[in-house]
Amino acid sequence: MPDEIVHWIGETHPRTIVDGTYGGGGHTHLLLDVLPKAECSSQQEHGGVSGLSPLIIGMDRDPAVIARDDVAGGPGSDPRIELFLGSYEKSPAALEHCGRSHADGFVLDLGLSSDQLADRARGFSFTLEEAELDLRFDPESDIPAYEWLAYHSERQIADAIYQFGEERYSRRIAKMIILRAKDRSPVRTVGDLVEICRRCVPRGKNHDIHPATRTFQALRIAVNDELGILQRTLMSAADWIAPGGRVAAISFHSLEDRIVKNAFRDDERWTILTKKPLRPTEQETRDNPRSRSAKLRVAERKPDSIVNAAP
Ligand SMILES: C[S@@+](CC[C@H](N)C(=O)[O-])C[C@H]1O[C@@H](n2cnc3c(N)ncnc32)[C@H](O)[C@@H]1O
Repeated sequence: MPDEIVHWIGETHPRTIVDGTYGGGGHTHLLLDVLPKAECSSQQEHGGVSGLSPLIIGMDRDPAVIARDDVAGGPGSDPRIELFLGSYEKSPAALEHCGRSHADGFVLDLGLSSDQLADRARGFSFTLEEAELDLRFDPESDIPAYEWLAYHSERQIADAIYQFGEERYSRRIAKMIILRAKDRSPVRTVGDLVEICRRCVPRGKNHDIHPATRTFQALRIAVNDELGILQRTLMSAADWIAPGGRVAAISFHSLEDRIVKNAFRDDERWTILTKKPLRPTEQETRDNPRSRSAKLRVAERKPDSIVNAAP
């Protein structure tokens, strides 16, 4: 939903934007159009014509994403872009590093990029069955999914698959994962887990979703602490988004969407600008079938005086 992102963020004439999920850089590069042009060096030395120089901070947890674009002459070399390797939870530190106390816009486009899905080494796609079941956004931190399975009990695995994947057959799946480990052939590859899901999850009438879809989503969320990071970030975002600044968040499943919706509703510093989440157009879902479950919510930080006004 790139046009909507540009519209909602651009409307406030931002000078500092954080793109918390840089990915292929699509949003960052479109948002350059709503930033003032880069100032010449003498203007920059004096803090620009109207204060701070225009800036988009692009953050991603995936080292391959940042290494690809953060090279001289590469897509990240526009003087208005600063790329940071790390979770968007660290946005306040990235802002501080760039000499800013606040952002005027914050964009989240949650989930996976198509590059990550196609990468054989990551295990995100259950069509690449020989790949190791890794599922980390940052392969240099924490533990891969196959180790996560080895460190957790049957109960913990079943709970995660149920809670984060809303998979009805979570107990059966967890039981078979543990049985394989006891047989000295623990789940190691994508194919190992896909086979278990095929055996445990009956095919729906319309065969509309692959039997492994919910389980893979659940493990990816658990391994990357995706919901915890989203919740903590949105709970504190009004501390570092300027009054009048906006957050635009695109989520891809109901668990993420609920966190976004509740975070905006429960903090009186936000005005919700999208009463119902915005959905992609038919044309967009035809061009990019993965966008069909996307939901965009936008909120604006109230001016401080409104929050503090006496009842
Ligand atoms: C759907 S893609 C973003 C696509 C991007 N908006 C574009 O236009 O190309 C999501 C990206 O978010 C990254 N990501 C996931 N969780 C993250 C986190 N907590 N912090 C920073 N990046 C994260 C992933 O590595 C992936 O590159």
